[in-house]
Amino acid sequence: MSKIIVSPSFLSADFADFGGAVSEIDASGAPWIHMDVMDGTFVPNLTFGPQLVRALRGRTKAVFDVHLMVTHPATFFHEFADAGANAITFHLEAETNCKKSLAEIRSLGLKAGIAIAPGTPYTVLEEFLPYLDIVLIMTVNPGYGGQLLIPECLEKVEKLVKIREEAGLNFRISVDGGINEQTALNAKKAGADVLVIGSAFFAHPDKSNLVKNLQN
Ligand code: DX5
Ligand code: ZN
Repeated sequence: MSKIIVSPSFLSADFADFGGAVSEIDASGAPWIHMDVMDGTFVPNLTFGPQLVRALRGRTKAVFDVHLMVTHPATFFHEFADAGANAITFHLEAETNCKKSLAEIRSLGLKAGIAIAPGTPYTVLEEFLPYLDIVLIMTVNPGYGGQLLIPECLEKVEKLVKIREEAGLNFRISVDGGINEQTALNAKKAGADVLVIGSAFFAHPDKSNLVKNLQN
């Protein structure tokens, strides 16, 4: 696998200045931007939709890593693709036809991912692994930034690394929730390839140094 990818999460950005957040992320050297889309039903919080992706697309070459925390994710694949998303990850708990959804995202030319919440076992992912590009392991309960990482969730990362190796697959494993310089060490040890980082990124005084440290 290539080097660690840092994906700062918009959820902790200044909602009055997403353009400024894009500049900060670009200046930090982080190659992805994580966008948490919440519908107030799948999770008890509301954020933003494809309009934001479209509005910012022209400002950066960063990969727009869209994390859909919504009840009917497939309804939105086309809109996000059209708006300029590069990767779409939906929740297994929200989608009954995962295989079809993955194929649809890929057919739009995007990377396709499935996320699982802390209470969902990794084993339910196994049948979908050959058809996806990203597995997102939630290390907090979805809905809010600034929570503490649940250490047990990293065991799922270890298991997936093993399965990937044995099956000769090459999806990326992303961890999302409670990542900071300390917890990232354990996430990387477990085998995570993508580190989503919200509150710890925007609170950090030296973001490019933070990104460098996370990548090492
Ligand atoms: C939570 C979101 C996360 C969130 C992480 O539901 O999926 O992406 O932004 O925030 P931190 O890094 O603050 O836990
Ligand atoms: Zn997320």
